[in-house]
Amino acid sequence: MCGIVAYLGEKNAYEVVIKGLQRLEYRGYDSSGVAIHKDKSVNIYKQKGKVQDLIDFASDKDTNGNLAIGHTRWATHGLPNNVNAHPHQSSNGKISLVHNGIIENYSVLKKELEQRGYKFLSETDTEVLVHLIGDIHKNGKQSLFDSVRLALNEVIGAYAIVVISDENPDELIAARKSSPLVVGLGQGEYFCASDATPIIEYTKNVVYLEDGEIAHISLKNGLKLKTIGNQNKTPYIQELEMHLEALEKGGYEHFMLKEIYEQPKSILDSMRGRFSISQGKVVLGGILDYEEKLINAKRLIFVACGTSWHAGLVGEYLFEEIARIPVEVEYASEFRYRNPIINEDDVVIAISQSGETADTLAAIKIAKERKATLIGICNVVGSSISRETHCGSYTHAGPEIGVASTKAFTAQVTILTLMAMMIGRRKGTITNERFNRLLVELNAIPEKLKTVLKENDLIEKIAKIYHKSTNALYLGRGINFPLALEGALKLKEISYIHAEGYPAAEMKHGPIALIDEEMPVFVIATKDSSYEKIVSNIQEVKARKGKVIAIVSHGDKEVKKIANHYIEIPKCDELLVPLLATVPLQLLSYHIALMRECNVDQPRNLAKSVTVE
Ligand code: G6P
Repeated sequence: MCGIVAYLGEKNAYEVVIKGLQRLEYRGYDSSGVAIHKDKSVNIYKQKGKVQDLIDFASDKDTNGNLAIGHTRWATHGLPNNVNAHPHQSSNGKISLVHNGIIENYSVLKKELEQRGYKFLSETDTEVLVHLIGDIHKNGKQSLFDSVRLALNEVIGAYAIVVISDENPDELIAARKSSPLVVGLGQGEYFCASDATPIIEYTKNVVYLEDGEIAHISLKNGLKLKTIGNQNKTPYIQELEMHLEALEKGGYEHFMLKEIYEQPKSILDSMRGRFSISQGKVVLGGILDYEEKLINAKRLIFVACGTSWHAGLVGEYLFEEIARIPVEVEYASEFRYRNPIINEDDVVIAISQSGETADTLAAIKIAKERKATLIGICNVVGSSISRETHCGSYTHAGPEIGVASTKAFTAQVTILTLMAMMIGRRKGTITNERFNRLLVELNAIPEKLKTVLKENDLIEKIAKIYHKSTNALYLGRGINFPLALEGALKLKEISYIHAEGYPAAEMKHGPIALIDEEMPVFVIATKDSSYEKIVSNIQEVKARKGKVIAIVSHGDKEVKKIANHYIEIPKCDELLVPLLATVPLQLLSYHIALMRECNVDQPRNLAKSVTVE
C-alpha cells in the first residue's frame, strides 16, 4: 500500500509524477504529496484526499522543476491529513523522502532522536527515517547516498523509499526491502515507482530492485546499485511486456466494469498455449521442473489473502477431486504466525494478484525455510512472490486496477483448474474421458462468459430492487461455496453493505435467524450434484419470507419457480461453474455500489496491494 513515484530528466517532473500517482492510486488514496526540486530548494505540496485534490491545490503554485518525488498514501501510522501526508523532510528541510512500508522499530528510534533534540511534526513512522538520514548527513562526513544507506541499516521493517536533496538537482536515491520498487531507464531520464504502470508510457527498460538494494541515480553517472551492506551490484535490465492501453479505462465508466467485461479474454489469455484438446494434454511450462514434487506431494497448502484466498478454496475442490491430493487453504496472515507444521514433501502454493501482499510473502518465506516446494500463481510479472517461489504460473489477466478483484480471481481459478488437471492426468486420478471432456468444456468457457455478460441489464434491474438493503446473505454448496464468500466480499468491499457468505447447509445453524422480508439471499443454485439440496435450502429461506436471487443453469425449472429473481448462466461441468457464476455476483455488487453512490474503483479504507501486515 502507498504508491511512490519519482522522476529525474528534462521533462516537467511534476507532471510525470502526478500522472504516475494517478496510476498508483489503487495502492492508497487518503492523501498525496509531491516535492519538486527548484533552484537549490524544494517546493512541497501535500493534500488530504485523492490525487485530484492535490492537483487542484497545486494548480496556482510553482510546479516547475526536473526532479520530483511523489506519494499517494494509505494510512498506517497517523490520520490521513496534510501533515502526515508524504513527502517528509529532515529537520533542516534539506532532505525530502517518500516511503511505502512500515518502520517497525520507529518508536525506539524516535525516542533516541527526540532525546537529541529532534522535533517531530507528524505521527508517521516515516518521519523517523528522514530525521535519521538527516542526522547522519548533518556532520557533512557522509554523502547523502551513504547517509541513506547507513540509516537503512538501523531500520527494522519494510520500505521502498526515494530520497532527494535541496543540494543536488541531479540525484535520486532509492531503496527497497519487502515493498516493491522499480527503476525505469529512459533516454536521458530516470523514473522510480512502486510498479511499472507510471513508467510504461516513457520506457520499457526497467530494473526491479531486490530486497536490501539501494540505487544511486544521476544523469551524470547513470544508475549505480549497491546493497545496503555496501557491496556493488550489477543492475539487471528487463523489458516490460505491458501495454499502455491496458492501463486506461477504454471507454468504460470504471476500471472494475472494464475488468469484469475483460474476463472472456483474460481467461483465454490465461489458458492460451497451455493445453491441447487434440493431444489431450495440459502443460504449464512454468511448473514442469517441479511436476514430480506436485505428483508426490502428501499435501498442498494454499496461502493467500482476500479474493485470492477464495480462489484457493475453489482450488481445494479442484485438486481434491481431480488430482486426489489433500489440500489446506490458509489465510497467509494466520499461517505465518502459527508455527505451522510443514514438511519437505509439502507443496505450498501462493496465490496473489499483485505478488506483493506482505502476509503471503512472509508465509512463503517461512515455508521456504522449512524446505517445502513453493509455487506461485501471480498476475504481476516480476513481483516479489513470483521471484521468491521455486516456480509458478502467471495468470496473464493483464493489469487489474479496480481495488476489488474481479478478473484476477477467474484467471486464478483457470490456472488452478489447469494445474489440477495436469497433475491429475499424470497421477491417473482422472479418467481420459473425463479429462478430455473437461478440457473441451474449459475451452468453451470464454464464449459462455460472453453470454453471461449479456445479462447485465437484468442484473442492473435486480440491483435496483436491493440497493438499499442493509444486510445480505450469500449461499452456495460444494465448489460454489467459495463463490458465496466471494460474492459477499465484493458487496462489502464496494457498497459497504454488510454481507455474509455461508455454505447453504450451514444456514440453519445460525444465519437463518437473520432472515426476514428485508433480507436478500443470493444463492448459487446451478444444476449440479447438490441441486436438490440447494432447492431445499431455498425453500427454507422462502418459508421465512426471505427474498431469493438465484443463479441458475440455463433451462432450470424448479428454482425459477420459487426464486424471486433468477439469473441464468450456460450449463457447464460443475467444476467449472465458478468461472461463470462469479460474474453475475461481480456485476450485482458493481451496480448496487453505483446506485449507492460509492466509489467502486477506490472503495473507502481499502487498497489493492497490501504491503503491510
Ligand atoms: C487486498 C485487495 C483484494 C485482494 C487482496 C489480496 O485486500 O483489496 O482485492 O484480493 O488484497 O491481494 P493479492 O494481490 O495478494 O491477490
